[in-house]
Amino acid sequence: MSAPESESDAAGLMESLFPGARLIVAANRAPYRLVSGVHGESHWERPAGGLTAALDPLMQRFGGVWVAAQSGDGQELDVPPEDPTYQVEVLGVPAETYRAYYNGYSNGGLWPLCHNLVERAHFRPSDWHSYRQVNHMFATQIARVARTEDVVFLHDYQLALVPGYLRSLGHTGPIAHFWHIPWPPTVVLRLLPERRLLLQGLLEADWLGFQTEDSVDSFASAARKELGARILRDADGVRLLYEGRLTQVAAVPISIDTERIEEIARDPLTEGRIHKLRSRLGLHDSALMLGVDRLDYTKGIPARLDGFARLLARYPSLHGRVRFVQIGVPTRTEIQDYRRLASAVRRRVAEINRRFRTPGWLPVRLVERNLRLDQLVALYRLADVAVVSSLYDGLNLVAKEYVAARVDGGGALCLSETAGAYHELRDAFPLSPLSPERIAEGLARAIFATEEERERRMERLRAAVAANTIHTWLGRVLRGLRSAAPQLSGENATPV
Ligand code: F6P
Repeated sequence: MSAPESESDAAGLMESLFPGARLIVAANRAPYRLVSGVHGESHWERPAGGLTAALDPLMQRFGGVWVAAQSGDGQELDVPPEDPTYQVEVLGVPAETYRAYYNGYSNGGLWPLCHNLVERAHFRPSDWHSYRQVNHMFATQIARVARTEDVVFLHDYQLALVPGYLRSLGHTGPIAHFWHIPWPPTVVLRLLPERRLLLQGLLEADWLGFQTEDSVDSFASAARKELGARILRDADGVRLLYEGRLTQVAAVPISIDTERIEEIARDPLTEGRIHKLRSRLGLHDSALMLGVDRLDYTKGIPARLDGFARLLARYPSLHGRVRFVQIGVPTRTEIQDYRRLASAVRRRVAEINRRFRTPGWLPVRLVERNLRLDQLVALYRLADVAVVSSLYDGLNLVAKEYVAARVDGGGALCLSETAGAYHELRDAFPLSPLSPERIAEGLARAIFATEEERERRMERLRAAVAANTIHTWLGRVLRGLRSAAPQLSGENATPV
């Protein structure tokens, strides 16, 4: 059977590979949150971030259970709120423990380290203690919910110890774990005091997925150097043999619900939104450049804004003719590095506006809130250039969303060469994210490109995005997991 192209193909594949199985997803963050107001009223919130946006449509299609965690009380929710199809079980974690696990070990340690920003990373024993505790809570809850035949699908760096804990709790069913962010080179990983325990925990999964071949190679090399695991290569790819257990390791870049985004992009309501946005942003005869990110220091936003300022300095003909809208969604605001980044971005925006503004033209606008998908799609349709200039990025789904939304074949994508998505989206205008001069050059190439070049590039980008949707991705994960679990013998594989 070839890779599934639609959600019904993926559903058929799930049933044929894992008959009767439910999907038990575990990720730190829940895709929906029910928030109580001060007067007892409550409202739903949807978080920003690629992981929840990518997996929610799958869960809506397949049903099952999503285990997540939060500080304070837990929650049990039937979601999506308008037409429930699956359950979310949110573990309530004592505030101090959650802070040390989430702000401390996960986002103050693993996050910067995996993005090679080593000086920002710190690893405190007390944070590690909480990280272990919360991972154990996840494993206990999953072991309670999952039957042996179910597919347990774990996500990301917050949950590296869960596969190991699940096995020690006696769970023998198939476990897949997908690492959404880059896996660092071995020399960088060596700065992590608990690296061996994390590697051992992950190697209890049957199947481990990464966004890029670089991450697969770095992980395999770390498993060999740190634990003495054997690397076996065969037609199915790379498998690691460690203490009698085989784990398949694969590069399977994640994607988006392309059909859904195209449907929104073609909806007549979107035309109405585009029209309103155009007049609200004063875009009558000026072009729009767009950035959409969480306000994270890995996204390269200050250098991007500096690049835009250089573009304006170099091309006075663009004054009054182009605007930059940066959607910057507040994130991890309890961490000082994130608050500093948000202030630096605000300062840059104010400086650029002070320097270049003219009556009736404000070059940059910063919008510090999360937008609904239908609002984002309208913005994507309106943006002449989308700018993704991450310093490092596991993948970057904004790049794929932008391309999927361009059902009109228009627009141009400027994409960092160090974002995982660049491997699939080579027809983007490349950006070198550290250098404002180079960024200005990249932006100029995109904005001054001929109509033919922009259309040709977009056509190829659209073909690349259509070739790997979220359903294709899940199909590849399920196929990989099926061939890896239950335990395979090492026959037919060649040690290297
Ligand atoms: O991709 C990494 C990740 O941690 C995802 O889990 C999530 O999509 C995103 O970053 C947002 O992070 P947080 O859940 O910490 O806001």
